[in-house]
Formats: sequence, structure tokens, C-alpha cells
Amino acid sequence: MTATDRIIELPEDWKAFLEERSPSQIVVLTDEHTARHCLPHFEDHFTIGEEYHHLSVDAGEGSKSLETVEAIYAILMELEVDRNALLINVGGGVITDLGGFIGATYKRGIGFVNVPTTHLGMVDASLGGKNGVNFEGVKNQIGTFHPAEAVVLDPHFLETLEENELLSGWVETVKHAVIADGTLWDDIKRKPGARLAKDLSIIRRSAAIKSRIAAADTSDQGIRQALNFGHTIGHAIEAEGSLLHGQAVAIGMIAELYLSEKLAKLNPQTSSEIIAYILQLGMPIGDWSFDADDLLERMRHDKKNTSGELRFALISHLGRAEVGIGISPDLVKESLDFAQRQLST
Ligand SMILES: NC(=O)c1ccc[n+]([C@@H]2O[C@H](COP(=O)([O-])OP(=O)(O)OC[C@H]3O[C@@H](n4cnc5c(N)ncnc54)[C@H](O)[C@@H]3O)[C@@H](O)[C@H]2O)c1
Ligand SMILES: [Zn+2]
Repeated sequence: MTATDRIIELPEDWKAFLEERSPSQIVVLTDEHTARHCLPHFEDHFTIGEEYHHLSVDAGEGSKSLETVEAIYAILMELEVDRNALLINVGGGVITDLGGFIGATYKRGIGFVNVPTTHLGMVDASLGGKNGVNFEGVKNQIGTFHPAEAVVLDPHFLETLEENELLSGWVETVKHAVIADGTLWDDIKRKPGARLAKDLSIIRRSAAIKSRIAAADTSDQGIRQALNFGHTIGHAIEAEGSLLHGQAVAIGMIAELYLSEKLAKLNPQTSSEIIAYILQLGMPIGDWSFDADDLLERMRHDKKNTSGELRFALISHLGRAEVGIGISPDLVKESLDFAQRQLST
């Protein structure tokens, strides 16, 4: 078990952190969108002084590549960035995954801080110490476990985030409540829509769940798999290419709730309540269709199903997950049909 993430908030904690850290140089990494939308707020509120270098990459998953990593290593060398420097990743999961990998490997590791600017980043991607890039078309194929020195949560950044991105990230908070915190679920379901997605106290609670579960199981073998709820099916749907991560995971959660009823004794009423909540979010997933054999093939190739057998994290009660449950392909197909029926009604 390792420590949970060091989550800090503006302004006092951040100031104290920076003073204590006193880096030799500061390098800020953004993508083109966070450079435009988030850097001004960052400059105004993070008081890092005049002297910092700003590097920006193209927005999107394509920047999570070894080519981008190499290009940034070269710039860091040119800037004579040493091991006492601090890299600050200001962006969504793409930037914290990319910057985390660079921070973990450049000169065998310089420190880095994550400043997540998407809801998904705040409650998931910036936490838990995993980082990495895609390689030869496979997501997150190259990477390390290396925690950020600190993660700064500031929901102000969410003001400029597109609605569909906000909702997609919110699905992870719904997942956190369902797998680990019935009280969080009760608080969420009282305010329909995603009205709480910019609420700092909710973000904090959701982040704490990810952080706690990830810290309890850094090698990804046991309880961390609970975070995979909705994702075994969700990743396969996402890989087809037409939906955002959270949209695909929302469908995955509906299918996996069906499986939870069948194999983990989840109460059907609880399952219906969660499904109704997901549907009322209004994500554009109503006309989703699928080829079951394609999806099953993708699931078998998912790195989390290495043995070729399909294993799932399922819900037994609200706030409790069970991991490593083996499921037959036929039952998975049944769950996909179920999800489609739910979406189209
Ligand atoms: N390391 C982990 O544990 C972990 C966990 C989950 C996801 N991830 C990774 O996270 C990535 C997805 O992250 P994401 O959903 O944050 O995507 P993203 O970083 O691509 O951000 C989504 C879009 O929003 C823009 N954006 C970000 N913040 C903004 C803001 N405040 N205002 C306006 N625009 C803004 C970005 O430029 C981008 O176009 C994937 O690569 C995934 O693999 C990693
Ligand atoms: Zn996810």
C-alpha cells in the first residue's frame, strides 16, 4: 500500500507547496485548448512568478505518443532543465498522462504536479500515479507508475469545458459513488443532470475514492479493478471510435448492472435506479448499435483480460464492488442487448 495522492487546493496550500519545493525552473505543459482557456486563470491564481517556460502540444489523444515525448525531452535538454525543476501539467487526462510520463522518465524522473482541467482529470486521470502514452495503436501501452508530487483541484477550470466533455467525465463520479460510496450516490441522485459536476466538495469526494482505491492496490491486480466497473464493456465500445470515453462507459455500466443483477445479487430496484439516473443525463447515446462479436473480440484483447477469459468487476450492493467475476460470452451478449433496449426506450 502506498500513500494516497497529495491533493491540494488554492491558494494557501499551493503557495506553501511551491515555497517549500522551490524548484530550479518551472515548465508548464498544456495543450492548445488549455493554453487558451486555462493558462490565463492559472497565471492569475497560481502565482508562480514571471519565470516559467510554457510548452504546448496539439489537443487530443494523438499527442499521447512517443514522438511528442521525444520532442519535449529535446526542448527540456535545450532549456537545461535539471532534476530540481518542476513540471506542471495543466490539462485533461491527455496532458497529465503525457506530462506524467515525461516527468517520471526525463533524467530518471523530475517532479511534476498535475493541475487537471477536466472533470475526468480531477476525479480520475490525474490521480493514482499511472501515466503513459499510446504505442502502435494500443492505448497506454508504454508508461510508468509514478505519482504526481501534488494534484491541485480547481473547478474554476470547468467553466470553459464543453458540456459533452463535462458529462463524460461526470460518469466517472457516478461510477465512484456506485462502486464505493452509497452516501455520495444519495447526494448525487438528489440533483438530477450533472449539476454537481463543478461542485468542489463532490469533486473532492470523488477524487478521494479513486485515490484511496488506487493506493490500496498499486499493482492493479486486486481491488483497483473495482474502478474498472463499466469499463470492460465500455472500453470495447469506445474503441469502435464514435463515442467519448464516458459515453461508452455509461453504456458499459448499464450492461454491467445487468450482469451484476445476474451474478452479484444486485437488487433489481437499485440497478433500475442507477440506470434511470444515467439515462436522464441526456448523453447522445440513444441510437447506439453494436456488433456483439466485434465487441467480444475487443474485450478479449483488452490488456485487463490477459488470460482470454472475460473477467468483470460487478456491483453487489450500492457502494460495494466484487472483482474478478468470470462471465460467459453469451451472458455478455445478453447484457449488450439489455443495454441497447434501455437506451432506445
Ligand atoms: N492515468 C489514468 O489513471 C487515467 C485514467 C483515466 C483516463 N486517462 C486518460 O485520460 C485521457 C482522457 O482525458 P480527458 O477526458 O480529460 O481528455 P482530454 O485531455 O483530451 O480533454 C478533453 C478535451 O477538452 C479540452 N480541455 C481540457 N480542459 C479544458 C478546459 N478547462 N476548458 C476547455 N477545454 C478543455 C482538451 O483540450 C480536449 O480537447 C485519455 O487519454 C485516458 O487514457 C488516464
Ligand atoms: Zn474511465
